[in-house]
Amino acid sequence: MPHIFLYGPPGTGKSTVGQTLAYKLKLPFVDLDRLVEKNAGIPISLIIEQQGELMFRNFETSTLKALADESDSVVALGGGALLREENRSFAESHGSVILLIARLETLLERLNQDPTKRPLLSGDLDEKLSSLLAKRLEHYASFTNQVYIDSNTSDQNALQIQISLGRFHLSAMGEYDAIVWDHGMEQIGELLKSRGLRSPIIVTDENVARLYAEKLMMSFRNTGMDPNLFTIPAGESYKTLEMVNQIWHAFLNAGLDRKSTVIALGGGVIGDIAGFAASTYMRGVSWVGIPTTLLAMVDASLGGKTGFDLAEGKNLVGSFYPPKLVLADTQALKSLPETELISGMAEVVKHGIISDPQLFNLCARGLDWVKGNLEEIVKRAMAVKIKVIEEDPYEKGFRAALNLGHTVGHAVELVSAFRLRHGEAVSIGMVAEARLAERLTVAGKGLSRTIAESLSALGLPLHIPKELPREELIRAMRMDKKKSNGVVRFALPVEIGKVDLFDVADLEMALEEQ
Ligand SMILES: NC(=O)c1ccc[n+]([C@@H]2O[C@H](COP(=O)([O-])OP(=O)(O)OC[C@H]3O[C@@H](n4cnc5c(N)ncnc54)[C@H](O)[C@@H]3O)[C@@H](O)[C@H]2O)c1
Repeated sequence: MPHIFLYGPPGTGKSTVGQTLAYKLKLPFVDLDRLVEKNAGIPISLIIEQQGELMFRNFETSTLKALADESDSVVALGGGALLREENRSFAESHGSVILLIARLETLLERLNQDPTKRPLLSGDLDEKLSSLLAKRLEHYASFTNQVYIDSNTSDQNALQIQISLGRFHLSAMGEYDAIVWDHGMEQIGELLKSRGLRSPIIVTDENVARLYAEKLMMSFRNTGMDPNLFTIPAGESYKTLEMVNQIWHAFLNAGLDRKSTVIALGGGVIGDIAGFAASTYMRGVSWVGIPTTLLAMVDASLGGKTGFDLAEGKNLVGSFYPPKLVLADTQALKSLPETELISGMAEVVKHGIISDPQLFNLCARGLDWVKGNLEEIVKRAMAVKIKVIEEDPYEKGFRAALNLGHTVGHAVELVSAFRLRHGEAVSIGMVAEARLAERLTVAGKGLSRTIAESLSALGLPLHIPKELPREELIRAMRMDKKKSNGVVRFALPVEIGKVDLFDVADLEMALEEQ
């Protein structure tokens, strides 16, 4: 992966946010100005005073270019480091440049509190900074990847940068990166190699194999690997122990040993079953998730849950077994049937309701907008799921927030004999549960309507089909694993961006339409 360069006017907190970002991504942090000083053996103020600004800029260029030989890191650049075309093209070809921006008042406030000497701003700070910003206005505006840092904490700023880059690192259960990368599948060979992973076997289903297996095989071959491929039929009905058994035997036949890597290429079914096979083969081999459905990108591939179905119910056997890497190539969503995309959007809206009002508002723009902006949608939705599972990896508390819409949703899915897709049932469930929250007065009036409007703009259903018997729905909700002491624990929306857990005894209330 390339470096991450943080750039922008003095006072945007590039060093502070850079350190937070590096910590979150488990990457080294480099402060270019400090490195220049270390290499020169004197402070920048003295370099400028004794040798002039040109000499300082020359030091800056050589220090920057030396990063070509270093492993990926987060680099905080000086406020004018990319004024030189040579530096800019180096940074853009060796990484991603993120421009931090803030209002003049914020910059002044920060600079006044900052004891660091800034030789180019000595004298009347207000006047010097205003004139420097005016001079560099066009230059800063020419960077496309911009993040506003006004009034946010360093943590929030780092998260915004992660979303904008599509780069996350999970560490609560296992240590792995989750990356959103348009056309990233073409880079999978390099990504594996850089992580010391080898001998890949791709497990996929017949639909996905037709579309993407060759691309992956090519990428592996280009890095000198000799990949294997095992294809299974598509669909939930194949997420069985019998299929796990076939996958284990495919591993044996391909000569997989403990150092090999299973590549789960496909939707949630493939991630679950191939991840489970990897977790048990030779007591566990490495695996990498390459989710190709929206649901798998924003939900199933994150959190390390693997497993398969029994005749008695879905996901009854499984393990917590995190992958070594998750790569979401949003190009794959272009071939996804629209019904699958819409179904996946229910989970995206759910993530918006849980903790990202901005994501919720983007979803409310409707399906056409979403289709044109899938990368942004995936990055934001992934960020929410990662935040939740990092706080509660083994589902002891807050992770239950992800059950929003699922208590009614699972019942509707089950009683409809899976005629409704999972996402469709969750959509119906979210509206019903928002109505329940209003009735319990834990949410303000109108929340269910706001949620329903957003789901409807995406083409998702809102109402429990009339033909589904109420008593069966109630029985199904009681049997759901979320029950405790005879009551059912619901994750209910309190407002857009906040979900809480509530125990509910009167389940009729959850099904009332008015
Ligand atoms: N492990 C978890 O935490 C977790 C969370 C949520 C759901 N799940 C599981 O995920 C499964 C559902 O996942 P899903 O909705 O991705 O279903 P899926 O894996 O069955 O994929 C849906 C369909 O889309 C096809 N497909 C996949 N990618 C495609 C692409 N890019 N282009 C064209 N077609 C493509 C597949 O072949 C399949 O026919 C369920 O089994 C569910 O239990 C797991």
